[in-house]
Amino acid sequence: MTEQIIIDTDPGVDDAVAIWLALAAPELEVLGITTVAGNVSLSDVCRNAGSIIAKSGRQDVAIYAGSHGPLTGTQRFGKYAHIGSFASLLKDEGSVAVSAEHAVQFIVRKAQEAARQQRPITLCALGPLTNIALALNFSPEVAKGIKRIVMMGGAFSAMGHRTPWAEFNFYADPNAAARVFRSGIPLVIMPLDMTFQALLTEAHLEVLAHDAGEPGRAIQHLFTTFDRNDPGRFLRDGGPVHDATVIAWLLEPELFQGCEVTVGIATTGETAGYCWADFYHKLKQQANATVMRHIDEQGFHSLLQRVLAVYGSKGEK
Ligand code: RIB
Ligand code: CA
Repeated sequence: MTEQIIIDTDPGVDDAVAIWLALAAPELEVLGITTVAGNVSLSDVCRNAGSIIAKSGRQDVAIYAGSHGPLTGTQRFGKYAHIGSFASLLKDEGSVAVSAEHAVQFIVRKAQEAARQQRPITLCALGPLTNIALALNFSPEVAKGIKRIVMMGGAFSAMGHRTPWAEFNFYADPNAAARVFRSGIPLVIMPLDMTFQALLTEAHLEVLAHDAGEPGRAIQHLFTTFDRNDPGRFLRDGGPVHDATVIAWLLEPELFQGCEVTVGIATTGETAGYCWADFYHKLKQQANATVMRHIDEQGFHSLLQRVLAVYGSKGEK
């Protein structure tokens, strides 16, 4: 039986890889793409999502626009927000219409259906957690329809990359993260500590451009245009593709090593967005998350190349 997922996302070049990966994987049924402001504004993430879907050939998958900004507090955008949408780079300007149904309403509706059918769904959270927090607040029934939330976020042993103390997704809406952390839903977290271990190099991009059809060429174009190399930080070539690890974990969890811990987040003060994990169980609290600590980098690249190659074998669009 395929796993039914909703991808909540703020594309974002790494979100794009995650979405193309999910749409190419026969093990997954993508019920919908819900968008949230984050890397760029809500209108630009919707435009980007439209171009990603258009490139995938999967126009059967609908896009649901969600939150313009955090539950409370200052709006934070990614470092490329001033560039706006990358859809024009992909020459697929918003060619997939956004549904009239709000993202939060869509998540609530699908979760309630799942609860009634006793077939809970997985939420894949690739951006700030605002939509998911709002859906959880809608009714207690929602959580019953959610099997787990697999999210990219946090920086535990790695330093933050958006501020010295925080990773972007959690920094952009710490109150939403706090709401999700206390939901009681099984959480799987892909932090910077782990995503920094799997870097896309020019050679990897060349393979995808050659073998993965239009999405493969788009990935090479996007990762070349928005250069994510940081040899000062990573001590080698390549740039992280954070969000793709969320989907990779669903497809091949054996590529990852993690541990069950209690996680929490600062929601006020100078270090709002700082997420901590009690790796040594000092608080003697019930673990509320599984945090991934290690990834098999070569296995990850093999997975990306194998699954994304389906876009090449489909023949050119
Ligand atoms: O910190 C990395 C995360 O922030 C990724 O999900 C990236 O797409 C941005 O949303
Ligand atoms: Ca993202």
